[in-house]
Amino acid sequence: MNTSNAKILRGRLLSFNAQPKGADDVSAYTYEEDGALLISEGRISASGDYSNVRKQAPQGCQEIDHRPHLIVPGFIDPHLHFPQVQVIASWADQLLDWLNDYTFPAEQKFADKDHGDRIAKSFYDTLLSHGTTTAAAYCSSHPNSVDAYFEEAERRNMLMLGGKTMMDRGAPPALCDTAQSSYDDSKALLEKWHGRGRAHYVITPRFAITSTPAQLEAAGSLAKSYPDCHVQTHLNENHNEIAYTLELYPDAEDYLGVYETYGLLGNKTLLGHCIHMKERELGLMAESGSVAVFCPTSNLFLGSGLFDKARLEASGVRTAVATDIGGGTSYSMLRTLDEGYKVLQLQRQRLHPLETIYWATLGNARALSLESRIGTLETGTDADVIVLNASATPEMAIRHETVKSLSEELFLLQTLGDDRAITQTYVAGQPMKASGN
Ligand code: GUN
Ligand code: ZN
Repeated sequence: MNTSNAKILRGRLLSFNAQPKGADDVSAYTYEEDGALLISEGRISASGDYSNVRKQAPQGCQEIDHRPHLIVPGFIDPHLHFPQVQVIASWADQLLDWLNDYTFPAEQKFADKDHGDRIAKSFYDTLLSHGTTTAAAYCSSHPNSVDAYFEEAERRNMLMLGGKTMMDRGAPPALCDTAQSSYDDSKALLEKWHGRGRAHYVITPRFAITSTPAQLEAAGSLAKSYPDCHVQTHLNENHNEIAYTLELYPDAEDYLGVYETYGLLGNKTLLGHCIHMKERELGLMAESGSVAVFCPTSNLFLGSGLFDKARLEASGVRTAVATDIGGGTSYSMLRTLDEGYKVLQLQRQRLHPLETIYWATLGNARALSLESRIGTLETGTDADVIVLNASATPEMAIRHETVKSLSEELFLLQTLGDDRAITQTYVAGQPMKASGN
């Protein structure tokens, strides 16, 4: 073992091994009151009770004491838009106006590589300060933007997923590619980036409205040739979007039927939003293993509707939870969980705090089929971990005085927490938050 970069993180460890079935489901997680991780070569080489982990550490190993804070796996954000860093907080009507008025103009700036490079630095600084160690993002339609995105991730050694947005209609000409150029560019980017370091390429047709049938066919053909790559797109977010999609694809049985026709469904397919779902679509999602990605702050901000988690899960659909920056309004997965909780409350679906923290860690890792690497503190996995402080602000600290259980602490973190509650973010064992301790 290389002792020079081995380190011990000491603190209260929390890691899930299953989706908690309720408030009392202690079998879904492991918790160590005086726990530790031994980190070596970017991986977790021991995990558990501090005294046991200490015994396995090499002589002179650095030790960082994060007590009394919680150490959990880094948050995973499985749906957001890298070129929308300057779109967040734009006063707009609903989805289609928001896209035309703010989003498409902002994305055009990514033709310039320098712009992409500058935004990438800010994007990753922000993710890391909010405790997000892995994300799946849409880049712009410019290949440059994908290079900017993965180059900066590589500098930080982050496990990131992303891809060039394919869009050949329904947007300003400066953003549109063609079916052929989107195929060629995506293929070249995929071959350049997928599997290089920690990069994962995602085949990214934006949504049915901005793709001709020829382009969706090209995307499907890429998905077939590269089954190891994810596919990401949007589905059933907004009523006007759905109506227009069915006008453009009159032969489709329903919205999901469009993606079905072009071979875009499967257990690596991430479908953002999935709010207004037909019964047939639920069955098809479940059968194909495609993932429904809940984006609560975006769904509220754009007035899109309420994600029906219970209905989706009762139908056997896999789910994930994400920020959807810049339709979403916070980079924080804690803020996202809080808003998600409220969206489900409105439908009398009361999420338990164990389940929300599971969702943002192991749940999202499973949705991305990456649970053997991230979303857990198990030995042998990547050392992407965060340190959470439930007394980070005066109002959290005073409320924390009355907290009596782990669940209550998690609920406090979710309800009042944001980037200030992230004491430190470790990526492959390296501390990435300048102010962390
Ligand atoms: N549908 C197509 N593109 C987008 C986007 O950028 N954001 C959201 N929220 N929905 C979309
Ligand atoms: Zn989106």
